Amino acid sequence: MAEIFAQKVVVLATGGTIAGSAASASDNIGYSAAQMGVRQLLDSVPGLDQVVAGRTLVAEQVAQIDSKDMSFAIWQQLALRVSHHLGQADVTGIVITHGTDTLEETAYFLHAVLPAQQLAAKPVVLTCAMRPASSAAPDGPQNLRDAVAVATTAGACGVVAVVAGKVHAAVDVQKVDTYRLDAFSSGDAGVVAYVEEGIVRLVRNWPLAPVDKAHVAIEKLAQLSHWPRVEIVMNYAGASGALVEALLAPLAVAGLSGEQARPAPPVRGLVVDGTGNGTIHQDMEAALRRAQALGVKVVRSTRCATGRVLASERSEFAHSNGLSPVKARIALMLELMQA
Ligand code: SIN
Repeated sequence: MAEIFAQKVVVLATGGTIAGSAASASDNIGYSAAQMGVRQLLDSVPGLDQVVAGRTLVAEQVAQIDSKDMSFAIWQQLALRVSHHLGQADVTGIVITHGTDTLEETAYFLHAVLPAQQLAAKPVVLTCAMRPASSAAPDGPQNLRDAVAVATTAGACGVVAVVAGKVHAAVDVQKVDTYRLDAFSSGDAGVVAYVEEGIVRLVRNWPLAPVDKAHVAIEKLAQLSHWPRVEIVMNYAGASGALVEALLAPLAVAGLSGEQARPAPPVRGLVVDGTGNGTIHQDMEAALRRAQALGVKVVRSTRCATGRVLASERSEFAHSNGLSPVKARIALMLELMQA
């Protein structure tokens, strides 16, 4: 007889406004993020039992931070815990509570590093809130209920973010508003699904993990003490090559390439938050050419909110394959780790 498992939903908490608290219930901005522990947070969500529907809710506090302070160490730990739980036969899906400010980066990181076969079978659902838990009208409880609804939906898979009743794919999601509850957008790609009264209405396919990811194994990633340094430089009217030159200074002084300049590794990659179709001021471009000659990988992205940088024969720099600058930086770090 087949063994019958009680199904589990795992909630991994990392802090954020969803666990935030202010002195007054009317204060939605003067709060401290990451104040409530995961158990307290779950206990404060009315109606969660109905959504969980007889499954066991497993809660784990992975971190307790304001997500502006997200670190590689926390990402390493989070990826390990997510992968561990995804590997358990009785786990239906994972929910991660997170701050809104760097949610899209964590989502993309997990999408890029988690084993494709795990992501093809189960969903990893990030959620958050724009108002603290102490608010008179918090958005966190509804977002959490919706996230659990997605995590328990048959066929759901991949890394997604659930906010304000919308399900966004990790590759596309971006915080686009500083204050509104519906603060995230998937740009041109559009949302994956809507959550309406606990029911998930799919409008496009669940996101697939990249099959070609020759990524660093999570276990190896977790042991890395230093990640390749990749910085983002922005193009704007009157930009110069000064910032790029400052980043190159240790390389130039040593007269060595990025690889040889270790053990005090300087910058290994630069992502340009370019104008328009990834265009770059000619003075910055000259500095970036020098960077490339010194072994620094340069990738062009765009500061435009929608659209993607299109390949151009006129540029000697790679483009970001549609990734925003912050996600292109993660992709480049992972690429450099494999080198
Ligand atoms: C954070 O990102 O941790 C604080 C801001 C937020 O969650 O909205």
